[in-house]
Amino acid sequence: MAGLYIHIPFCKKACHYCNFHFSTSLKNRKKIISSMIKEIEIKSIGYEDLIETIYFGGGTPSLLSIIEIDSLIKAVIDNFKISKKPEITLEANPDDLNTSKLKELSNSLINRLSIGIQSFNDQDLKLMNRSHNSFDSINCIDNSLKYFDNISIDLIYGMPNSNLISWEKNLNLALNWDLNHISAYALTVEPKTALEKYIKKEIILPLDEEFVYDQFNLMYDKLLDLNYINYELSSFAKKGYFSKNNSGYWLGKKYVGIGPSSHSFDGFSRSWNVSNNKLYVSDIQNNKMYHQKEKLTHVDQYNEYIMTGLRTMWGISLSNLQEKFGKKIENHFVKKSKKFIESKLLIIENDLIKTSKKGKFLSDGIASELFLINR
Ligand SMILES: C[S@@+](CC[C@H](N)C(=O)[O-])C[C@H]1O[C@@H](n2cnc3c(N)ncnc32)[C@H](O)[C@@H]1O
Ligand code: SF4
Repeated sequence: MAGLYIHIPFCKKACHYCNFHFSTSLKNRKKIISSMIKEIEIKSIGYEDLIETIYFGGGTPSLLSIIEIDSLIKAVIDNFKISKKPEITLEANPDDLNTSKLKELSNSLINRLSIGIQSFNDQDLKLMNRSHNSFDSINCIDNSLKYFDNISIDLIYGMPNSNLISWEKNLNLALNWDLNHISAYALTVEPKTALEKYIKKEIILPLDEEFVYDQFNLMYDKLLDLNYINYELSSFAKKGYFSKNNSGYWLGKKYVGIGPSSHSFDGFSRSWNVSNNKLYVSDIQNNKMYHQKEKLTHVDQYNEYIMTGLRTMWGISLSNLQEKFGKKIENHFVKKSKKFIESKLLIIENDLIKTSKKGKFLSDGIASELFLINR
């Protein structure tokens, strides 16, 4: 069982916080899509695992025409072994989802939309440099629900200038639709973004971590009261609506990455394509090695296991840890986790060690103290 990720490397404009790979020029679009189809054909040769999920991420996949989306899906279906009812998600920006696009998408094999709302607050959206406003977002969700029932929205909390009152207002708006899935990310200041530049120049002041935690805490309690399950730090879903694609990543399943900057994982090694549209096209067209590869050491595998275990509701099973990595490594984990159990950031439930609410929010920092170092 595996997932297939297709990276669409175009955006209308650059959001100030984002350092995912994209170009605002659509010039090479045709060549990139035909290269992706070629990459699908190449990567399918000898690939035995059943593909359960296809995920169009970006960049902005909703910028593609339905013909382009269909041609990519067809290439996957024609070349890979596909499960009976694959989850096929498309990330979409609200300003792309007009009625005719939604109609076309609902007639395609796409069966899940992940809409980048980010905020219902126009001040936030301006600061983010988004290409839509809150009115577009509301209309877009109303319209999308006429065509899709499996919809997720992305939100960003911890915005500069936000506070608990503005975040609660934002969240209440998002909860109006009783959606099946909400992904909410704490704003991170990524290198080489406009946001980083503004913060360095003190034009924008980031929020202190404790205030960001207050927003996570408010959201967590509110969403759990409404029967959402926080199955991963940033992911809240109603029962039966967990993202199969993202759960695959966290449960260590294999995935095939297609397109510039995409990553692949075969159970032992991770490889990643070049993050440059022009180089990607020329490499694929010339049948050149278009990715870098890294074999995961035992230590890398342990570190990833800890990282995902702390982020997710599945936690870390001590017996599983011992079986996978041996008694010595399990002892290291137990010894290092003691102080977090005492401070109630980690909780023991029989054989499982999980993060508490606060622990989940701080899971990156906790994980780094539980990691082993490659020698
Ligand atoms: C890479 S984007 C692609 C989706 C789509 N292009 C969009 O913007 O709606 C996926 C999601 O990552 C989140 N994201 C990207 N950069 C982030 C950052 N620096 N901090 C927090 N969330 C971020 C946003 O919520 C975004 O919707
Ligand atoms: S958040 Fe989405 S739309 Fe904005 S730059 Fe990143 S990928 Fe593009």
